[in-house]
Amino acid sequence: MTRLIFLGPPGAGKGTQATLLSKFCQVPHISTGDILRSAVAEKTDLGQKAEAFMSAGELVPDELILDLILERLSQSDAVQGWILDGFPRNVPQAQFLDGLLEKISQPCEFVVNLDVPDEVLLSRLLSRGRQDDSEDVIRNRLVVYRQQTEPLIDFYRSRQQLVSVDGNQTVEVVTSELQKVVTA
Ligand code: AP5
Repeated sequence: MTRLIFLGPPGAGKGTQATLLSKFCQVPHISTGDILRSAVAEKTDLGQKAEAFMSAGELVPDELILDLILERLSQSDAVQGWILDGFPRNVPQAQFLDGLLEKISQPCEFVVNLDVPDEVLLSRLLSRGRQDDSEDVIRNRLVVYRQQTEPLIDFYRSRQQLVSVDGNQTVEVVTSELQKVVTA
């Protein structure tokens, strides 16, 4: 059973490592970014409301995200554990998650912050080329990260829940360090 939250700026490797670690731990990988991108592609109500925020590199409003997480964590496969990638993204989302996890008796075990310098993030994202990976939008995602998401590092550190991992290493080395964290 693993319940883990990934923190880290855009391009830190959250999605890459969450995919690998979810196989290793045999728990679902829950990415709010992936759920939102599918909703945009399928032109659902959620997708139509979220699209402009995502294209601009802004956070999608909490009222659209919180229901999505409530519904996803209530699904039967999440009883076995989960890896959250891209949620929580600000203090109100983290407070909501605290309340939800307490209500469903699923305490989070690990909060992992992937550290990567800005110049490496920019170069990784520019070479990936996702729809929101243009230079202007990446720079705005980094500003939004600093303002709204980075405060979560202290939020979780103050509860002795935070583990920092150097994300500026090869994918394999980062994976191996993460496997040590979850099996320690
Ligand atoms: P989201 O999909 O969460 O994007 P992000 O946080 O910007 O993260 P990325 O996917 O860009 O980076 P990552 O850290 O996952 O790195 P990855 O493994 O992909 O969110 C997108 C948008 O959705 C947001 O802007 C927002 O609008 C909305 N949203 C999502 N969640 C939300 C929420 N909770 N609240 C409100 N809005 C929300 O790797 C990046 C690249 O680097 C890849 O090409 C990869 O191959 C490469 N790479 C990875 N690791 C390494 C390595 N160790 N060495 C070299 N290259 C590497």
